[in-house]
Amino acid sequence: MATRAVIDKVFANELERVSDFKFDEAVAGVFDDMVSRSVPMYAEIQRMLAELAAGFATEGSNVYDLGCSTGTTLALLHEQLAVEAHLIGIDNSAEMLEQCRTKMAERNMPGVIDLRLADLDEGIAIENGSVVLLVLTLMFVRPLRREKLVRQIHAGMNDNGCLLVVEKVLGDGSLFNRLFIERYYAYKRRRGYSELEIAQKREALENVLVPYRLFENRELFLNAGFREVEVFFKWYNFAGFVAVK
Ligand SMILES: C[S@@+](CC[C@H](N)C(=O)[O-])C[C@H]1O[C@@H](n2cnc3c(N)ncnc32)[C@H](O)[C@@H]1O
Repeated sequence: MATRAVIDKVFANELERVSDFKFDEAVAGVFDDMVSRSVPMYAEIQRMLAELAAGFATEGSNVYDLGCSTGTTLALLHEQLAVEAHLIGIDNSAEMLEQCRTKMAERNMPGVIDLRLADLDEGIAIENGSVVLLVLTLMFVRPLRREKLVRQIHAGMNDNGCLLVVEKVLGDGSLFNRLFIERYYAYKRRRGYSELEIAQKREALENVLVPYRLFENRELFLNAGFREVEVFFKWYNFAGFVAVK
């Protein structure tokens, strides 16, 4: 199955009933197009993640991508790594992992990523981790489970290891929150999404994607024990964080 050049039309036709968003076969098949047209500066974020991760990855350690989807981040990182590290991709969508396997085979990189099916809501066992990535994924973990998950990540990481997180974020107050979301929908229109597609996807994500404010994410990482937390990316309602143990 081809993984690229498949255009996202998941919400293009009017649905009788909009169900909760799922990373199922329909989404997995168009995911690379969907995410690159739905996340501003996606390619630049991925480039930054790979260069930051490459700087923190250490010889013989594990590098985890939690919510790895089709493996975009780990594939880019693999090209930049100057050390031998074990790349582990975790996702709870079998369809996403299948797309990842296909993409890696097409790029002559079979077996480069150790892919594992697991649910982050149930927690995670990290071992010998120099880098952990949570890219556009923590926002899908149930809020009640986030603190425990981040603490478990911290516990399993090596000293001086780094956690890289990208999230959709809320504005601190309703004024900027509204303004940022308006700008975000304007971005989606520029990327070719119709009003119907924008409205139906928003409805589908309503109970599934729960964003925190930027400072709430920052506190989550600091409270889990990370000694330094910095914002490395910000675009209206999107933010990237680097946290060091
Ligand atoms: C928006 S995508 C992540 C995009 C990807 N990291 C990237 O950089 O392109 C969110 C991913 O997280 C996965 N996911 C959502 N909830 C999860 C959970 N509870 N456990 C494991 N994976 C989860 C989804 O299946 C999906 O592949």
